[in-house]
Amino acid sequence: MEVLKTIAEMRQARKASKKTMGFVPTMGYLHEGHISLVRQAREKNKLVAVSIFVNPTQFGPKEDFRTYPRDTKHDLSMLKPHTDFVFMPSDEEMYPEGYDSWVEVKGITDMLEGSARPGHFRGVSTVVLKLFNIVQPNRAYFGQKDAQQLAVIKKMVKDFDVNIDIVACPTVRESDGLAMSSRNTYLTPEQRRSAPVLYQSLQLAQELAKQGEWDALAIRKEMTKLIQKESQADIEYISIADNETLKEIHRIKYPALVSMAVRFGRTRLIDNLVLEE
Ligand code: PAF
Repeated sequence: MEVLKTIAEMRQARKASKKTMGFVPTMGYLHEGHISLVRQAREKNKLVAVSIFVNPTQFGPKEDFRTYPRDTKHDLSMLKPHTDFVFMPSDEEMYPEGYDSWVEVKGITDMLEGSARPGHFRGVSTVVLKLFNIVQPNRAYFGQKDAQQLAVIKKMVKDFDVNIDIVACPTVRESDGLAMSSRNTYLTPEQRRSAPVLYQSLQLAQELAKQGEWDALAIRKEMTKLIQKESQADIEYISIADNETLKEIHRIKYPALVSMAVRFGRTRLIDNLVLEE
């Protein structure tokens, strides 16, 4: 496994081989969810590249950029058995003095995470396009857990004619259903005990839809009631939307994306499930 810190080194490594490459962009503090993306990249490609870069431009001024968990030694040991290249640039390498170009995907960034975190997707799409240009993979792997991020990246790739296949990978969960996330580490033991309610409420939505409930508002009400039983949980939004446009729907129409952001103290967790026929 080669660890590359500059754009020139990463470009050189890519140039040296014409083999197919799968790419997993990450912000580090890796867990089994990331490794499942890496494994899927390994299955379909001769080479696997992973980037570790806590991208400052996707954090709002009051968000956790400074405190975002970092553990490079642990990350590299997790990646070693599965990865050929790790690209780990500095902030200055990615955003040198005078940097002034941004990617904005309009429309699907207006709602959900986009409206809760202004500027977030501008930072995500900018860094992902830069990483794509530097690494030049054939395929890139993203988790379904960040459903809107996935939709934004797919749209950007389509609109800019980027010649990279975007592969969506299922959410990896702890045994009690909590979606794996680097931010789970912020939870207190009590909050951690309450946090599986997110997935329980998604399962409830699925069950209600299966039983024939077509009213999205009624499903949202039941989910809200369940989550509110946990005193630590503070709902930011629950959305039931068209899975492609991410526009809210009133009547269940498949496939529908049920997604949510819920705060546990200062920790904000997101999760989602696609309702399918
Ligand atoms: O999902 C993430 O970890 C980040 O948003 C990404 C895609 C690596 C861009 O910084």
